[in-house]
Amino acid sequence: MQIPRLHPDTVEEVKQRIDIVDIVSDYVVLRKQGRNLAGLCPFHQEKTGSFTVNPIDHVYHCFGCAAGGDAIKFLMEIGKQSFAEVILDLANRYQVPIKTVEVQDSREISSKLSIRDSLYEVMAVAVTFYQNALKQPQGQIALDYLLRQRQLNLETIESFGLGYAPGGWENLYRYLVESKHYPVALVEKAGLIKSRQAASGYYDLFRERLMIPIKDLKGRAIAFGSRSLGSQEPKYLNSPDTDLFDKSKVLFALDRAKKSISQKDQAIVVEGYFDVIALHSAGIENVVAVLGTSFSLDQLNQLLRFSNSKEILFNFDTDQAGISATQRALKEIEPLIYSKEIQVKAKILQLPHGKDPDEFLRSDPDAVNEYLKIVQDAPSWLDWQITQLIQGKDLDKSEHFQQISQGISQLLGKLENSNMRTNYIEKCAEILANGKERLIPVYVQNLQAQIRQSPKKSPTVISKSNEHSLLERAEYFLLLNYLHYPQYRQNISDLLDEKEIAFTIAKHRSLWHKIVELNQYSDYGQSLLESLRDYYLQQKEEFLEVSDLFSLTEKEYEDSFRIAELIEQSIVALEQAHLEIYRQLCLQRWQNSSIMPNGDPSYFLQEYYQTQTKILELIKHSKSFNKNI
Ligand code: UTP
Ligand code: MN
Repeated sequence: MQIPRLHPDTVEEVKQRIDIVDIVSDYVVLRKQGRNLAGLCPFHQEKTGSFTVNPIDHVYHCFGCAAGGDAIKFLMEIGKQSFAEVILDLANRYQVPIKTVEVQDSREISSKLSIRDSLYEVMAVAVTFYQNALKQPQGQIALDYLLRQRQLNLETIESFGLGYAPGGWENLYRYLVESKHYPVALVEKAGLIKSRQAASGYYDLFRERLMIPIKDLKGRAIAFGSRSLGSQEPKYLNSPDTDLFDKSKVLFALDRAKKSISQKDQAIVVEGYFDVIALHSAGIENVVAVLGTSFSLDQLNQLLRFSNSKEILFNFDTDQAGISATQRALKEIEPLIYSKEIQVKAKILQLPHGKDPDEFLRSDPDAVNEYLKIVQDAPSWLDWQITQLIQGKDLDKSEHFQQISQGISQLLGKLENSNMRTNYIEKCAEILANGKERLIPVYVQNLQAQIRQSPKKSPTVISKSNEHSLLERAEYFLLLNYLHYPQYRQNISDLLDEKEIAFTIAKHRSLWHKIVELNQYSDYGQSLLESLRDYYLQQKEEFLEVSDLFSLTEKEYEDSFRIAELIEQSIVALEQAHLEIYRQLCLQRWQNSSIMPNGDPSYFLQEYYQTQTKILELIKHSKSFNKNI
């Protein structure tokens, strides 16, 4: 049997998705400390937090024990897992499809990896070639364009690595292939030259153009954008997709914007290269651009890695094309902006007089401050959508009125957050009433009715796995009853000990640690609940995470007569969830045992089936738990 290995694409994709704060938070309670986050080091005993996480570079470091590295290293060390095991767990967590390769393919892949390295190299050499050409007499026309028409300074030109592709068909080809001896196939693969159709030979893709290097997160050039200087079409020409470049996934200038995005806790997305360049050179650096495609979920996920509050502003053109692009972007990220759990705060920024950011900044010396003010006042995506519905329509015309009110109920119907929905229903009823105040309550009712009727195409939120929610509910239930029914505390602790079950959800685990600690030092003058409340008075953020546990809802209160039974069921549910996770792990380990030294695949297969049997035995009980809670 051929044993599969992890495909490097899977590894790469996982790396792109990792959010170190998210991962470390499962093990360490982190607090904000300047630009970083800090907490108690999980790798050595300490009382003051010397463990820090840098959310920009996605690395951790402990000043106490010098542990440090990226998220993968963190998980390897903390879980004593191999690289491959960590990648598999993460692939699961981020729903990245797992690709494997047969052993016989792995040679091909390692040669592909070295091709990637060569591609990076050839791209870097091309950047320098174009940069030099900009400084030659032939590049004067392009340099003039940048300095005069775009009003950029030399520093900005240099720092973006802007360049010039001279006229002529074979400049770059000759330089790379004939003088530098790069294989012609490699240069073609980099998307820099094309083979001639009619005759033999190759020609340069970019000629007489201003060259804009497109870089990856590490600042390596992976493609070029280019602009014609005169009226030649197309105005903009990008590199084709290559092994290094997928234009629907890359955001222009994210490598230089990530720091500012993290500091301002906000990202601005624009349409053009020059919009980014102009804003950055004016000191507004939390800005990236799409590359001639519509904004994708992939691109959103990349931005979210750098922003905690998930505030994303779209500053697209104000013409019809720009408005459609904005609508398309919102549609694309719809599952995340309507969701209660994730709450991406999307805002829409439109500049006056239909200007794009580059034109706007050049229009007036004080434009930067004005831009910042417009950023501050930008409407939320929802307010903007509502404005779009009303624009150009007359509420007194019944046909228009119908269209608007239908549009509104469609928008509001998808909101998962009921407070927000109620809020907006009132706001929109006011809009619909159009000054006739006595009509507001009627419209509130109408909207409510329409929303109830409208088919809830509930957005596909990236939901946590089933095991996770079972686990979460069972843990929640145990803690709730532990807190509110002292007579069951011993029972719960004993069961947890006996079954060797620990709390897994980070917020539950830290609450449990606190409980254990308080129990140790309690002077019995104060109840556990009182001591906890005192503690959380100082730790407001932490408290918000577990505040639900501090009071009983009506339903929870009604359940009090059968607590003993429910406790037992939730312990079973916890066991089941843990077994499910272990079973998955066995399967993965079996599939990947070739990666681990001395791995004996049949062992994991046996474990897998044994765990499966145990789960089946437990399932009867947990079904009743599912129904009960
Ligand atoms: P626009 O053509 O909308 O911007 O291109 P603009 O402001 O008028 O351009 P300038 O200021 O005259 O230079 C915006 C972006 O759309 C993509 C490019 O990424 C460009 O930065 N685009 C545009 C293309 O990919 N191809 C095109 O032919 C045009
Ligand atoms: Mn422009």
